[in-house]
Amino acid sequence: MTTELIKVDLNAPEKSFDDIKAAAEVIRRGGLVVFPTETVYGLGGNATDALAAKKIYAAKGRPSDNPLIIHVSTPDEAEGYAETGELYYELAKRFMPGPLTVIMNSKQSIPPETRGGLDTVAVRCPENVIARKLIEFAGVPIAAPSANLSGSPSPTTAKHVIDDMEGRVDVIIDGGECDFGLESTIVKIEGDSALTLLRPGKITVEELSHICDVKIADAVVDKLKDGERVLSPGMKYRHYAPTAPLVLLDGELDAQIEYIKADRIDNVGVLAYSENLEHVQEGIKNAKVFDLGSSFDEATQAHRLFSILRDADKFNFDKIYAPLPSKEGVGLALYNRMIRAAAHTIINLKH
Ligand code: TXA
Ligand code: MG
Repeated sequence: MTTELIKVDLNAPEKSFDDIKAAAEVIRRGGLVVFPTETVYGLGGNATDALAAKKIYAAKGRPSDNPLIIHVSTPDEAEGYAETGELYYELAKRFMPGPLTVIMNSKQSIPPETRGGLDTVAVRCPENVIARKLIEFAGVPIAAPSANLSGSPSPTTAKHVIDDMEGRVDVIIDGGECDFGLESTIVKIEGDSALTLLRPGKITVEELSHICDVKIADAVVDKLKDGERVLSPGMKYRHYAPTAPLVLLDGELDAQIEYIKADRIDNVGVLAYSENLEHVQEGIKNAKVFDLGSSFDEATQAHRLFSILRDADKFNFDKIYAPLPSKEGVGLALYNRMIRAAAHTIINLKH
């Protein structure tokens, strides 16, 4: 199919509302539209249409048992699709619109195809003005996974989307770079006053804990066992992954440099914090070094990570190394994405 590209002027998005209306009509007719959100680009279709859900899975090359998030234009709209409750509205008041996805029991209005056959449904009300207008004009909730081909990093620019999705969707809306750059925080409501964190994001455990008890699902961090070297390859858990193997280093900067040198890889990529760029380049002369942003600036790291992983692919590296992030605050989201990109290959360089 031919893919239509719509470019939105971010300084005057209202000039594009007619184009966004036309894209909403494509959704209403069962077609697929890629749209920007404040987290990553989404690959959208009508969430109430089982056939549209099937098209989404096909375009992504994703197994159809992996459920889709449904996007609404106001938090109240969730009422039509999920068994909401007090806790949902408390979360909505504090964090919506924004990068939070809430899992609740589903109503029949959402077909099983959209939910990957589960009894629950994931609801998110994005903040991005283009996303909100698209949903509002469509008049239906929009089911949207990240708009990448299954297995590669989520797209944070229209260029990433075009690389993965041109010819596979009806419309791509170019809304510039996504603000945050990692996918939404996902929580599941458990009873009246508890949440389980399923995927960390910009909204942190610390922030959620002000509202109620938060349990972190084991899979978020895959807690490491004691030991010098922890290697758990598990290819099926490799997501967001560059083609070259990614290795995460846990230890002092000089110990990391020594480790990389001792590995003697010719064609090597290294992700480093801004303040360490020169030191790393001096230490590992043949390396191509990527700037992740300052070690204190997790927002910049989140914004850059997926772009860097995609860029790294162009160099055909034999191996890529990166520092292991902390698990504090937004660090947990970086940690979660990076251990998956690395298929859990973490080298412990601490004594
Ligand atoms: O930021 C985001 O959340 C982006 C933008 C486009 O909104 N979307 C996104 O969707 O990241 P996706 O499909 O790439 O990731 C959604 C995750 C999947 O891992 C899926 O398994 C999980 O959410 N999920 C969806 N519905 C669920 C449910 N009912 N129960 C458990 N997990 C669910
Ligand atoms: Mg995804």
